[in-house]
Amino acid sequence: MKNDIQSIKSEAVAQILEAKNISELEDIRISYLGKSGKIASFTKNIKNLPPEEKKQVGVIINETKNTLLKLIAERKNALSTSTREWFDPTVPGRKPPVGHLHIVTQAIKQISEIFENIGFVRVRYPEVEWDWFAFEALNMPQDHPARDDWETFIVDQKPNDKLGRVVLTPHTSSGEVREMFRVKTPPIRMINISKCYRRQSDVSHVPMFHQFEGLVIDKNISIANLKGTLDYFVKNFFGEDRKIRLRPYNFCFTEPSFEVDISCAVCGGRGCKLCKEGWLELGGAGMTHPNVLKNGGLDPKKYTGFAFGWGVERAFMMKNDINIPDIRILYSTDLNYLKQF
Ligand code: FA5
Repeated sequence: MKNDIQSIKSEAVAQILEAKNISELEDIRISYLGKSGKIASFTKNIKNLPPEEKKQVGVIINETKNTLLKLIAERKNALSTSTREWFDPTVPGRKPPVGHLHIVTQAIKQISEIFENIGFVRVRYPEVEWDWFAFEALNMPQDHPARDDWETFIVDQKPNDKLGRVVLTPHTSSGEVREMFRVKTPPIRMINISKCYRRQSDVSHVPMFHQFEGLVIDKNISIANLKGTLDYFVKNFFGEDRKIRLRPYNFCFTEPSFEVDISCAVCGGRGCKLCKEGWLELGGAGMTHPNVLKNGGLDPKKYTGFAFGWGVERAFMMKNDINIPDIRILYSTDLNYLKQF
């Protein structure tokens, strides 16, 4: 009986594989697996077998049934997909969604290009920095508020005798003296765009943000060069119609120091609800302090320079066609918001 079952199984397999359509397949199923089918006749005869064979044959019959049912299902599936009438090969395929660079990356690219076009060299300096480069070399006194852990993240590591504590870079100005060491002999035209960290989080502050820092050092560099460079940047980044103004301010690493304001895009500088008096604050700038030049190994009698350091995210948010009410959105995972830009 075992051999008979085997040959019926082979016969059924051949028929299933050759079936041309679903109704032929159904006929095959009934003739082998139906109530009065060929396999059922074996089941009926089990009772006539000697007891030791009964169990063995039962197992073989079950295995055969399962194999045939599985094969029929697979063949049915193959026949139904190949004969679907609604399949139209001319319908265009579904395009997978294509992403784009994050808006901050786009802004960094744009800023780099604008400065590279006038001879600035793009650099990046470390995200983890020594106190000396971040503060001391920049002429910032020990009791400056930025140096305590209210604003700056201090890394829990043994301080270095000469360079002091390890901090997360709080501003790109820490790259200024590094750049003087790298270039050694001016001219220096640096644009350092890097990540900065501060203990701040609200609608206009994020704990991790980017700054772009310009540093120019050469013989006879003056405030006119600073103003001309900032003007060039603002017109290229924000638009031809935007103007800047310099307001006196105080930074330890520049003297004189300025806050740079940009004319408001909404009212064109006349004054409105957003800007009050026609101007919006963009960031800091100034003429490099002689002590900073000295710390970078340069002679302040021979060289002068200027520097500016602005936030990438904030500058991007001040473009006239961008409306981002909360800076933290830039670092959220809200794709619906981010994919607009
Ligand atoms: C500075 O960091 C100075 N180093 C700038 C400078 C460089 C002045 C060279 C003179 C010469 P300030 O702390 O104001 O300055 O920061 C500069 C800009 O960084 C701000 O105007 C703002 O655009 C951006 N910024 C500061 N903190 C944050 C923050 N938590 N989130 C987002 N942007 C920030």
